[in-house]
Amino acid sequence: MAGCNQPVAAAVAFDMHLKHGLCIGVRIPAEDEAVLALSREALLPEEARYAERLAPLVRRTWIGGRVALREVFGRMGIDAPPVMPNDRGAPGVPIGIAASITHKAGLAVALAARESSAHVGVDLELDVSRAHDIARRVLTADELEEVAPLAPTERTREVLLRFSAKEAIYKALDPFVRRFVGFQEVAVRPCPDGSGAVQAALTRGEGPFAIDVTWRRFDGVVLTTARVVPRLLSS
Ligand SMILES: CC(C)(COP(=O)(O)OP(=O)(O)OC[C@H]1O[C@@H](n2cnc3c(N)ncnc32)[C@H](O)[C@@H]1OP(=O)(O)O)[C@@H](O)C(=O)NCCC(=O)NCCS
Repeated sequence: MAGCNQPVAAAVAFDMHLKHGLCIGVRIPAEDEAVLALSREALLPEEARYAERLAPLVRRTWIGGRVALREVFGRMGIDAPPVMPNDRGAPGVPIGIAASITHKAGLAVALAARESSAHVGVDLELDVSRAHDIARRVLTADELEEVAPLAPTERTREVLLRFSAKEAIYKALDPFVRRFVGFQEVAVRPCPDGSGAVQAALTRGEGPFAIDVTWRRFDGVVLTTARVVPRLLSS
């Protein structure tokens, strides 16, 4: 319980060395007091002060994401200054580091890597069927055709996976294009080995970019990551 003068440690749900960086998920405590205690314990003072000014629901996930990120930084030996939101809402990390955050339900996840010219993105979704079909909103016409032959449950999961991959891509792409990128501007075809083929047709002609994605399903979630680098700099 918080407030008993005991150190509050982040409850790590998983840690994975993925192709795009070190990825750690932490459980966000249910009680507000415990979340605040975790914030004071695990975050830098400026981060904790910022969090205290947020509305409780946003504060919970914001703290969770920063705690996950601090856990990643700690394990990578990165002594980063306070990670405040930048003008696009992304975590403002030092040059030479790429990082991304996602949170769903009671889980917050951070991904980070040492990168000189690439950005990374991470997204987490609950791998459950939804009442509302999001396919037409998030898939291109070609993608809709690709998923059409699948059985209903498989189709729903495939749509969710592509949605998640696009959110991860958006987070890695936004630092380059600095604008909302529509779901029709990028197409993803997940491969069974956890990779994916990505095609971008950015409406404002930015790029070209080398866009790489990974995905995995475990413990009832879908976790996707992306790495984006200008094609001229990719090797
Ligand atoms: C920004 C967005 C991706 C966030 O996704 P979400 O499912 O609402 O929330 P998640 O929990 O996965 O991610 C939230 C985190 O995203 C990060 N984020 C927010 N804006 C961001 C941006 N412009 N660039 C990179 N990361 C951003 C933040 O770290 C945020 O957490 P924090 O505020 O606690 O630090 C989504 O709201 C959005 O605007 N998407 C744009 C459209 C899109 O995805 N297009 C896909 C085509 S490529």
